Amino acid sequence: MSGPAIRIVEVGPRDGLQNEAALVPTDTKVALIDRLSATGLPVVEAGAFVSPKWVPQMADTADVLARIQRRPGVGYPVLVPNERGLTQALAAGVTEIAVFAAASEAFSQRNINCSIAESLDRFAPVTRLARDNGVAVRGYVSCVLGCPYEGAIDPAKVAEVSARLVELGCAEISLGDTIGVGTPAKAAALIRRVAEEVPVSRLAAHFHDTYGQALANLLACLDEGIRVIDSSVAGLGGCPYAKGATGNVATEDVVYMLEGQGLSTGVDLDALSAIGGWISDAIGRPNASRAGRALLAK
Ligand code: HMG
Ligand code: MG
Repeated sequence: MSGPAIRIVEVGPRDGLQNEAALVPTDTKVALIDRLSATGLPVVEAGAFVSPKWVPQMADTADVLARIQRRPGVGYPVLVPNERGLTQALAAGVTEIAVFAAASEAFSQRNINCSIAESLDRFAPVTRLARDNGVAVRGYVSCVLGCPYEGAIDPAKVAEVSARLVELGCAEISLGDTIGVGTPAKAAALIRRVAEEVPVSRLAAHFHDTYGQALANLLACLDEGIRVIDSSVAGLGGCPYAKGATGNVATEDVVYMLEGQGLSTGVDLDALSAIGGWISDAIGRPNASRAGRALLAK
């Protein structure tokens, strides 16, 4: 039996929560991950071993990982910025990590306090050690369709950083429209350019929805062969180093669109919508998923 047509990487518990100013209780994070992993989602990004001074909300990632019910067949990757983070991730028994670079120098400095080249040098031992320990590595590239500090970004730069991350051992590259400024033709052109360096089968689309373009952009990317999509339940989130950026495209909206297009996801949309309503209430945010709100109002 073949699997779903599209693999959805749920990033709500990490990307969705990392920007929340009030600390979300560990219990809530554990419940969120456990509920999400029961909906058929194949991957639930579970946290980040980053500096707690930089992102306080992720400081309890080890506790979260110790308490979730790991469901067979579901991946629980975490973000790792350096060897220190990898050591913590290995101690927590993770089997997948993600390193994160940017296609913009200014964003790299603001987000991880080093240049793009320095970040890649820093990731080399991280990816090597991870792979030596049987841990799969994903690579993120931020600001692929625009940067809050530099404006437009050359797709050639995105392709170059993506190719370097693959050389370092990243199995998959997730292309982040961090501030949601892309539009469909630009998103499609970006995928075509990056695919000159990295096979499209190894690319994922990670689109924030700040300008309401994410679903349209995803549709354009599907036409270019993208089959892995990152999204966040209830459209939670934002980036602490991209002022004004809103959350990722909502997982409910993505699942609704894909299933409507005849592209299977394996995800139970009603269960997912219920989780979106619950977590929005729990953290005191409006539910940013249009499909989720519509389904909950039925
Ligand atoms: P730094 O200040 O240059 O590094 O930060 P440092 O080595 O000087 O360390 C500073 C302090 O942090 C030290 O503590 C270290 O021990 C500690 P002190 O001595 O001052 O007490 N430290 C750590 N603690 C825990 N875990 C660690 C760790 N490393 C150092 N791993 C650093 C450099 C990379 C650490 C920092 O800038 C950082 O943590 N940045 C993370 C920023 C972040 O998490 N951003 C959000 C995720 S990326 C994103 O959202 C985009 C994405 O969604 C895609 C998209 O949308 O585009 C992925
Ligand atoms: Mg993001």
